[in-house]
Amino acid sequence: MKSSITQGVKILATGSAVPDLCISNELISNMVDTSDEWIFNRTGIKERRISSSPTSLIDMATAASMNALNKTHINAIDLDLIILATSTPNDLFGSASQLQAKIGASKAIAFDITAACSGFVIAMVTATQFIQNGSYSNVLVVGADVLSKWTNWSDRRTCILFGDGAGAAILQSCSVLENNILGFHLNTNGQKFDQLNIQCEYSNHDKNFFSKGLKGSFKYITMHGKEVYKFAVSKVPQSIQACLGSLNLSSENIDWLLLHQANERILYAVASRLMIPSEKVISNLAKYGNTSAASIPLALNEALEDNKIQNGDLIVMSGFGAGLTWGTLIIKWYR
Ligand code: ACO
Repeated sequence: MKSSITQGVKILATGSAVPDLCISNELISNMVDTSDEWIFNRTGIKERRISSSPTSLIDMATAASMNALNKTHINAIDLDLIILATSTPNDLFGSASQLQAKIGASKAIAFDITAACSGFVIAMVTATQFIQNGSYSNVLVVGADVLSKWTNWSDRRTCILFGDGAGAAILQSCSVLENNILGFHLNTNGQKFDQLNIQCEYSNHDKNFFSKGLKGSFKYITMHGKEVYKFAVSKVPQSIQACLGSLNLSSENIDWLLLHQANERILYAVASRLMIPSEKVISNLAKYGNTSAASIPLALNEALEDNKIQNGDLIVMSGFGAGLTWGTLIIKWYR
């Protein structure tokens, strides 16, 4: 959907944070019937970071945000808007306001976006709308998740995959000529919501509702891995092609393919379908596993810090996961 664009969007800086505790494949193979060889061959993952504190979501989001802010000329007080993409809030009413308070961004409005592993892309697109239509000038977008808290550590089909982390980007309005965000393409298929979820359940069901009430809680992550794999490999290339097409670009124009870090086989299968050489694929799965909404900004920040991404490079980002949701954002990078 097109809106009336009066402003461009500049990505001023990125930042990231991960917990200290590192869990190797070997350690997991002491807990469930698996092996380093199986995990690495099927996913590309060697280790992941796990947070041990209940406040870790906010701590990580704060650290990633400050890491990004410290690379810019603006302070937290200058922020107009904070969007926190997370599916693992530490408060069901949302965690973004705690992040706002912790970094001292008292003038910013703050809210969460829940869209699993597509969360960061959807949050970036949302932020872009507010900037392009002239509503806000300085926006902090954060992707942060602590899926380790919702992982069944005795289920070898899922516990090998996930890790915790946070990544942030500071966006600012600029002239349309300096615009970094070229286009996007988003999708949802709610018919397949049950392929990947963390379901709510209610206990103490009693006829006398008002004396006992219903206590809500959440189950562990459940996932139909093969189905999600097939969905990602078929739908993500289509989304990228649609987005490129809307900008009169083709996959040959891509300098970096930055997909949600779910499984290295998915990254290379998508690249191969688009005929993108493997050197253009950004992957840090080996170190962090699948960090859900954090995976794209974490990998983007690392690629920038490693000076992989150069001025003028075209970056295609795609998130995909629970919902099912998937989406693409195309960026032209300028420092
Ligand atoms: N160690 C050893 N064996 C295992 C393990 C394990 N950790 N897990 C499964 N197996 C076994 C299975 O039991 C099965 O054995 P069987 O053939 O005797 O039944 C065999 O290995 C193959 O299992 P599959 O599930 O078919 O393995 P697959 O190659 O599909 O890999 C995986 C599984 C890694 C989960 C893959 O399907 C995948 O990555 N799917 C996509 C996940 C994803 O992208 N999620 C994204 C979004 S996440 C979000 O939104 C929060």
